[in-house]
Amino acid sequence: MTIDNNSIDSRLNPFKLAESLSEYWSPKVISEVDEAYVKVAKLKGSFVWHQHDNEDELFYILKGSLVMEYKDKQVNLKAGDLHVVPKGILHNPVASVDCLVMLIENKATLHTGGNRQTSGCSIEEQLQSSNPI
Ligand code: NI
Repeated sequence: MTIDNNSIDSRLNPFKLAESLSEYWSPKVISEVDEAYVKVAKLKGSFVWHQHDNEDELFYILKGSLVMEYKDKQVNLKAGDLHVVPKGILHNPVASVDCLVMLIENKATLHTGGNRQTSGCSIEEQLQSSNPI
């Protein structure tokens, strides 16, 4: 295990952890479930079109709203909503206002899919702990 907050008596508050982030589009790992990481992120503006060939990507909106753009439609999400981006589908998250999200992603998932020249955040960076509040 790479992080130590999965002990039986640990309690995390994803909302507070997301609120404490200072950088946009820079997910932080807060926990892990078998082969998946649980992350929080703060989003604003438009990210980048990308896809994850082999992994689904779960978004749970903690605060604000998010539009998940697809080539042929968009999904409007608000606080309390959950959305899974299916593997292999091009998508672009857009937040017109500050948005806090919790993400569940396979540990193999690259932040920006195969599109590495953009602002993808390495897993090493994502694992740097923001201290639990
Ligand atoms: Ni994605």
